[in-house]
Amino acid sequence: MGNDRSPDVRVFDSVAALHGAAAALVVAAATNALRRRGVFHLGLAGGKTPRGLYELLATEPWRERIDWTRTHAWFGDERCVPFDHPDSNFGMASAALLSHVSIPPSQVHRMRGEIEPDSAARAYEAELHAAGGPLDLLLLGMGADGHTASLFPGAAELEERRRWVIPAVAPVEPRRRLTLTLPAIRQARSVTVLVAGIDKAPTLNAVLSAPEHRQPGLSNRADRAVPLPAARLRAASGAVRWLVDRDGASRMPVANLRA
Ligand code: 6PG
Repeated sequence: MGNDRSPDVRVFDSVAALHGAAAALVVAAATNALRRRGVFHLGLAGGKTPRGLYELLATEPWRERIDWTRTHAWFGDERCVPFDHPDSNFGMASAALLSHVSIPPSQVHRMRGEIEPDSAARAYEAELHAAGGPLDLLLLGMGADGHTASLFPGAAELEERRRWVIPAVAPVEPRRRLTLTLPAIRQARSVTVLVAGIDKAPTLNAVLSAPEHRQPGLSNRADRAVPLPAARLRAASGAVRWLVDRDGASRMPVANLRA
């Protein structure tokens, strides 16, 4: 676990090894949550990187290690497309994981990308507040530009302080999105970011070398001055955990890395 002075970064020789470690973290978070509270709230990331993790969790021996009947699945963000659209984060997670495990449909909380975005955002926020507690584990990704969820560099959405879910605009298609805000992300008991690929290496180095990783308790003013959204991630339980493949870590000082 990273101390207050350095981020918790774990580097893996392959994306498959990264997915294996992520699966073990999901199982550990589920075991802990179910033992303490009898329910496990898991936030899922979109994009391509987590798909292999979801497929792993849907197969033995991993599938049986989580009580899916007491698990709730949530999403960090969604594209404003129908659930069966190829760009849907829900559609990806459903095909890779949710349709293969015994999670009750009522416990799969989909952001409704097919309806008017602000209405969808407010409805999802109401669902989150009704969940009776924070997400136990939120999985996120990071784009090569340093975005996370659908919080993009320079976007006004980054500065939302009150709402937990809002509409957002991406610089790439599909541009209309729904996203958790920083206040919502920071409610999560634990945040794990999955990063793979050489294209992300320079940005990951910038994110993890940023001084705010050494001063977790930034003032709002200092927080707003941080350009890269992924550098502004915090978790309620302290260190954000980064699972990175060798390519993604290839621009980081060796001193920051651990096997
Ligand atoms: C999305 C994700 C987004 C993603 C990053 C990384 O809806 O696209 O929420 O934040 O995690 O863009 O995506 P890849 O894993 O595809 O590189």
